[in-house]
Amino acid sequence: MRAVFEEYQRVKDERFTRLHLDHIPVIDEDNLRVDFEAEIREAIELGYESVMVDGSRLSLQENIRATRKITDIAHATGVPVEGELGAVFGHETGPLPPYEELFATGKGFTSPEEAKRFVAETGVDWLSVAVGNVHGPLMRHCQKVEAMLDLSHLQRIYETTRVPLVLHGGSGIKKEYILGATRHGIAKINIGTAIRRVYQEALPISQAAAQKAVHDATVLILRELGLQGSRKLVHLDA
Ligand code: 13P
Repeated sequence: MRAVFEEYQRVKDERFTRLHLDHIPVIDEDNLRVDFEAEIREAIELGYESVMVDGSRLSLQENIRATRKITDIAHATGVPVEGELGAVFGHETGPLPPYEELFATGKGFTSPEEAKRFVAETGVDWLSVAVGNVHGPLMRHCQKVEAMLDLSHLQRIYETTRVPLVLHGGSGIKKEYILGATRHGIAKINIGTAIRRVYQEALPISQAAAQKAVHDATVLILRELGLQGSRKLVHLDA
């Protein structure tokens, strides 16, 4: 965390970028408990400008309790917090139904009623939601699916919560869906796989080649989405 912070201080341009701590899970992908509070405290002390606590593998009540703990800590120093509610599937180890079936049944989607309670009781500044989006590949060692978004469901979440919403799993979603989502409450879009893949492919050549590949992919993504100059945040995983 410190190394990323220090490198960011060297290269940052605050006209365009902020340093955000992505996903600190309470329970990780391997079902192990994480000392999320210590990790987030460390980031805040270092100077990260916003943080995310991900309690989405917990029950609603436990997610509220864990997220509230972080908003209390972070808000005391003026640092905004992102929380997550609903199951943004991805990297799963166990068997899952096909993506089309998950989408059609709305399995794992964020409930608008639960979202309202979650936001009111935690005081989060952003809410990451599940409306068909998938993190990276759905199952480990598989290709990423081309995810769809249920925009009317998204609108219902936005109407009940009225906080800026976050779209995780941004790689590979059709542009029409992403732009539609920005009209239904999405204020931040997280993109990882699309830039990590080019990084990994170019790394055997050299570190400089990998950095250039990430730079070029980032420019391409921002141009394709046409979001330059808008107030939407695009979160690119480092
Ligand atoms: P993708 O890897 O699917 O773009 O998702 C990234 C993400 O949501 C990181 O938080």
